[in-house]
Order: sequence, then C-alpha cells, then structure tokens
Amino acid sequence: MKIITTINEMRAALAQVRTQGKKISFVPTMGNLHEGHLDLIRRAHQLGDCVVASIFVNQMQFGPSEDYTSYPHTPDADQQKLSAENVDYCFMPSAAEMYPPTGITTHTEVFVPAVSTILCGASRPGHFKWVATVVAKLLNIVQPDVAIFGEKDFQQLTVIRSMVTDLCMPIKIVGVPTTRGAGGLALSSRNGYLTPSELAIAPTLYKTLTQTKQQLVAGERDFAELENQAKQSLAAVGFVPDYVSIRCQDDLSEPSTSDTKLVILAAAKLGKARLIDNLQVTL
Ligand code: PAJ
Repeated sequence: MKIITTINEMRAALAQVRTQGKKISFVPTMGNLHEGHLDLIRRAHQLGDCVVASIFVNQMQFGPSEDYTSYPHTPDADQQKLSAENVDYCFMPSAAEMYPPTGITTHTEVFVPAVSTILCGASRPGHFKWVATVVAKLLNIVQPDVAIFGEKDFQQLTVIRSMVTDLCMPIKIVGVPTTRGAGGLALSSRNGYLTPSELAIAPTLYKTLTQTKQQLVAGERDFAELENQAKQSLAAVGFVPDYVSIRCQDDLSEPSTSDTKLVILAAAKLGKARLIDNLQVTL
C-alpha cells in the first residue's frame, strides 16, 4: 500500500492507474478504523480494481462544542489495517493540504438543502454542509468510478447521493449495511467514549429500533406514538434521546401512512458519546 499526503501526488498516481484501464473505488474515512470501515474496503475490492482509502479528520464538520480535539487519532494502526486489506493507496492529507491558509471563511461551501437541516442536521448546524464540501473535494481529487459509504450514517449517505446527482458527478455511490457488534450495537469510533457500564446499555439503541420495526411490520401506523415510545424506552435506560424519527427511505421526508419504504432513525447521547443508528423497513 502506498501512503500519499499531497493532492498532486494522488492525482499523478491515479492518472497512471487510469491508463491501465483499471476501475477505481474509493472509501473516505476519518480513521480510527474498525470492522465497519473494513467492510466498506472489502466492498470496494468487489467493485473496483484499484482501492483508494482516505483518512482525514475534517475539523470543519465538527461543531465548536463537539469532540474534534478528543476524536481518536490512530494512524499507525489504521495503516496496518488498510495494508492488511490490500488497499492500493491511502490518502492522508494534512488540514493545510485540504484547506487554504487564508482560512475557511472564503472557501466554497457545498450545501444540499432540506436533507441537511433536519434530524442530525438540526442538532449539528453546519455539519452536513462541511461533510458535503469535504466529500466533494475528496471525490474531485480521487475521481473514482465508485465511492462507498456506510448506511450507518444514513442521513450522510442521503446528502451525498443528492450532491452527486445535483452536481452531475459521474460517480456511482454505493451504500453498505451497518456492521454491528455485541447485542447489535453499530460499530462506531465514538463507542470508544463509552464506559463499561454504558457499553452494556448501548445495544438498547438497536433493540429499540428493532421493536419499532416490529410494530410497523405488525401494522402500527401512528408514527408519532411509535417515536415517543422509542424515546421513552431509551430514556428509561439512561440515554438522553435527541430524536427517534420514522422517515421515507429515499429522501428522509415525513411519510404518510401509505408509504412502504421507511427508515427509523435515532440519535441519543449516552455519557460523553452521541450515538446514531437506523433500521430500514420495507413494508
Ligand atoms: P467515518 O465516521 O470515519 O466513517 C467513514 C465511513 O465508514 C462512512 O461511510 C460511515 O458511514 C462508514 N461506517 C462507519 N461505521 C460503520 C458501520 N458500523 N458499518 C458500516 N459502515 C460504517 O463518515 C465519516 O467518517 C465522514 O463524515 C466522512 C464521510 C469521511 C467525511 O469527512
């Protein structure tokens, strides 16, 4: 695996790859890699001949009171994991390489309306704008045939799909199902913030979504009531719920009772960690 830190070097290496007629697949990450990230890499191998992963902790997408300074940095372990998965190129740019020295205030912003300001976007103002902006930059640098993202961050995936469609980017976006650990807990870099007792409680998030899914499958259609019940179940075990919301899978709009492609999304704080999860339901 070749480690690349500059945009010029990344472009030059991939220009070579393209002349060989190889299909490039790309997995952007913020590092601290776990099996969920590695499942995206495995999918990338199925979809392309040359796999590029990026590790860049994008400070701009963290709010001022969020965990940027404590976000885990594990570059050596990450490189070993990517190398063991036969990644061809690991792109690890510095902040100075990705953003201009003059500061961020004059930088172009990519904003996908509607879907960026609801759910997690309502509690994390500006978050999805900077996710879309950094992903647009990374896609322009790598120019992959296919880019792979986790369904774990369902709203992020929705934002990126809209951006790629709206900006006519000739890139296929592929979503990969959530990789889960003990008790169904979605793997996340932020699980590392949980104490042992919080780790025992954390799978309740998945269990609660599963119960809501069962109620939908059984014919329950009072979405507001189901959302309230789920929030109460989370609060009862010690979560501070932000939202539980039943939405349409395609655009995260509010469903009517006749919609059949739904997704239940939740965000809740447990101790220092803000956990998110979701379950798709096709009725
Ligand atoms: P990060 O949180 O590192 O996640 C990188 C990719 O891994 C995302 O597509 C995310 O959805 C996926 N992922 C994380 N946990 C997963 C799990 N348990 N199962 C399946 N996929 C999982 O998401 C980001 O970084 C950033 O916002 C980024 C897109 C890189 C832009 O900065």
